[in-house]
Amino acid sequence: MTAPDLDLAGHDRSMTLGVFAENQLQQLGDVVGLAPSDTKAYASVLAESLGSAAQRPLNLPPPSRSFLSDDHTPIEFSLSCRPGETPSLRLLFEPGCAADNLVDNGRTGWRVLHTLAGRWGFGVRQLDLIEDLFLPTAPQGSLALWLAMELRPGGVPRLKVYLNPAASGAHTAGATVHEALRRLGYEQGLSALPSSDGYPFFALDLGDWAAPRAKVYLRHENLTAAGASRLSRMPDGPRPAVLEDFFRTVGGFGRAPSEESRADRLPALTCHSFTETATGLPSGFTLHMPVRAYVRHDGEAHERAVAVFEQQDIDVTPLTRALSAVTPRRLEDGAGLIAYLALAHEQGQAPRVTAYISSEAYTAHPTIPLRPTQAATSS
Ligand code: TRP
Repeated sequence: MTAPDLDLAGHDRSMTLGVFAENQLQQLGDVVGLAPSDTKAYASVLAESLGSAAQRPLNLPPPSRSFLSDDHTPIEFSLSCRPGETPSLRLLFEPGCAADNLVDNGRTGWRVLHTLAGRWGFGVRQLDLIEDLFLPTAPQGSLALWLAMELRPGGVPRLKVYLNPAASGAHTAGATVHEALRRLGYEQGLSALPSSDGYPFFALDLGDWAAPRAKVYLRHENLTAAGASRLSRMPDGPRPAVLEDFFRTVGGFGRAPSEESRADRLPALTCHSFTETATGLPSGFTLHMPVRAYVRHDGEAHERAVAVFEQQDIDVTPLTRALSAVTPRRLEDGAGLIAYLALAHEQGQAPRVTAYISSEAYTAHPTIPLRPTQAATSS
């Protein structure tokens, strides 16, 4: 008899991805005080949405080389936190991850999205307006469609869909974003944004949002602290010093001069969100830092998170608990458990810090990666 193939947590690797993720979700649900019945319902939605990928045992390779996470797990968690509030738990996943090609991947995603929207009665008119732009007949790039759920108490999530502006080629991504914004009523949207090195994602909110957003993500290669401080375009947005502090803290640049404080390993991203406003300017701004590329290990990433949470006057305990909820491994034994740290500003609300937490269903990335700048995926 051969010994079972066990992982760090003592799980048999013949366990399926769906069951593995459900266990992680249960633990994370506990951290944010979700009722176990709600968490269970969300885990079923996830398993149903991933289809055959959820049934796949972990001792097989990932269902595809998903760009969603470094080890190609088609699932990622995040904890979004505001001062004095219970953090909200979110789940990002790729419904089409088991498809053989990007066309089927996108079609599967689209079908799952409509099924979920139908179940909860969410309008999809906005989506249907832009379908042809993001799901062309011969799509390109590293994703077709991702979904995210904000796991609210009560079992009805808020839903977000992420699409690829470069689906018809990186050189037309700007035009695609412009056209999508135009169709959604934000004619001048694109011209309000700062210059960038590409358009990694376009996203829409679906469901019960106070103000559903259309979101444009921008990629910034070799961003400096001074550069980061100038990227918001929202009225009454974050002060430049706030963005600069966040950038320096997460990147581990300390007080070094701006030109030496350069995010040159993995690019920083910004997200500019549009809701109905008279100004035509974005009403939200988020700076996303891929902290995993700027640390030797997750112990360091956690320290950066502690500092950022302190700066924003947010209790970091839920994040600390969430990290040990998803994995029994020591933080020092890998880099990438915290994939990104993000600082979000929305009009009229206290700033929010979001930590993106990897599932690591397949592998934890070894320490001291300090990878060279990733070749631009869009050129
Ligand atoms: N893995 C991809 C990246 O690193 C996409 C991604 C996953 C992402 N989670 C994210 C991008 C959170 C920004 C923020 O870019």
